Amino acid sequence: MASIRHYRTLTRWRPLVPVSPKKRSDYHELSFLEHGEPTRVMEYHQQETPPVHKDNDGFVKVEMLAAPWNPADKNVVQGKYPSPVKNPMPQPPSGRGDSWKVAGSEGWGRVVDMRPGGGLHITPGSFVTLGQSGMGTFRSSLWLPSSALIPVDRGEELKTRAGHAAAACLFQLGGTAWRMIKDFESLDEATGVIVQNAGNSGVGWMLSQLAATLNIRVISLVRRGSKSPGEFERMANALTQQYTNTTRVVAEEDLLEDKEAIKALEAELGTCAPRLAINAVGGPSASLLLKLLAPGGTMVTYGGLSMQPVTVGTPLLIFKDVKVRGYWHSRWMTRTFPKQKKQMVDELVNAVLDGGVQLPPFQVFPLSGVQEALKFETEQSAEAVRRKIVFDCQRQGD
Ligand SMILES: NC(=O)c1ccc[n+]([C@@H]2O[C@H](COP(=O)([O-])OP(=O)(O)OC[C@H]3O[C@@H](n4cnc5c(N)ncnc54)[C@H](OP(=O)(O)O)[C@@H]3O)[C@@H](O)[C@H]2O)c1
Repeated sequence: MASIRHYRTLTRWRPLVPVSPKKRSDYHELSFLEHGEPTRVMEYHQQETPPVHKDNDGFVKVEMLAAPWNPADKNVVQGKYPSPVKNPMPQPPSGRGDSWKVAGSEGWGRVVDMRPGGGLHITPGSFVTLGQSGMGTFRSSLWLPSSALIPVDRGEELKTRAGHAAAACLFQLGGTAWRMIKDFESLDEATGVIVQNAGNSGVGWMLSQLAATLNIRVISLVRRGSKSPGEFERMANALTQQYTNTTRVVAEEDLLEDKEAIKALEAELGTCAPRLAINAVGGPSASLLLKLLAPGGTMVTYGGLSMQPVTVGTPLLIFKDVKVRGYWHSRWMTRTFPKQKKQMVDELVNAVLDGGVQLPPFQVFPLSGVQEALKFETEQSAEAVRRKIVFDCQRQGD
């Protein structure tokens, strides 16, 4: 890593409900029978024994320790999320029968049992993360083929230094950010600049920090929205306080409403115009990124938060020759060999343990607290940086 910084703890963001280390013998899950709004269709279910699994060679039993609630999980429950392959790996059974699906795609767990034939150096006690989406991670345990898992070699260290909940957030947010930094443009370590919108999102947070480990500067556009000047300043401070001179936070509205502000930013960048733009929003925000992009540069779209299309003006294509691409982490995970996926997981863990990268703020809830968790998520708009919801998959329901 080009930049080595000491690991710091953000005590302000300590979870209100600690992840419980208590071992349980029964089973619980968060599942849904039909698609719809998560608060309406997702149900907490407990039973004495885990659902029966096929006793196949190469299968391992994972005790799920923590699993984050990502925007994609919401879309899956709503029935709006496509599968990256025609015939996806079937989800392990729900305790409530075949018609039910368990929610949750990402997760952090530990192998507690296994049949012969597992690959990739997975052994009982190994910490693992998911290598396949759609397996239903919001539950206390599940059996999976070892090919659906990625072992985390420094898992014990990650657990001790960051905790289960933070570890659970690392791989999708960090993986999406890492691939977009690495796979589209080769950025010079000294002069490389990335411009992104939704800089206060989970992916945006990870992208700025991972880029910093490579000495790449990031300009983060963040919408001011209904934030007061004080709230905006707190947010900008939260995003830059540890990475001054690396991440610069700019209110998107200031650039959209004032051509002079764009010129000033361009002048500040000088010959280091961004070769990579990262778009999670679409609409005018994406057009702004394209304007700031260097000739021949690439804009990668990974989200459409504004629900507005990305439009590219003809002159940008002809005179600036910009490239417009998309990134979908589930597709990368499906198409990539296990060895490469493990390499990425190792790189992300090293970035946290050796490179000082911190996970976004989060708030932990038990699976039984799903309604409170979803309510908390919608009510936290005044927060400087929104907290990720993480489920403690071991904590018992009442
Ligand atoms: N393609 C992939 O593989 C992939 C992987 C991960 C995530 N994603 C997508 O990436 C996006 C971000 O995910 P995340 O988990 O990082 O999200 P997140 O942590 O939940 O954050 C979303 C952020 O977006 C901002 N936002 C919402 N609507 C906006 C708008 N119209 N204009 C500008 N900013 C807006 C919000 O900030 P304020 O409300 O404070 O403005 C919020 O901080 C989501 O759309 C998600 O589906 C895609």
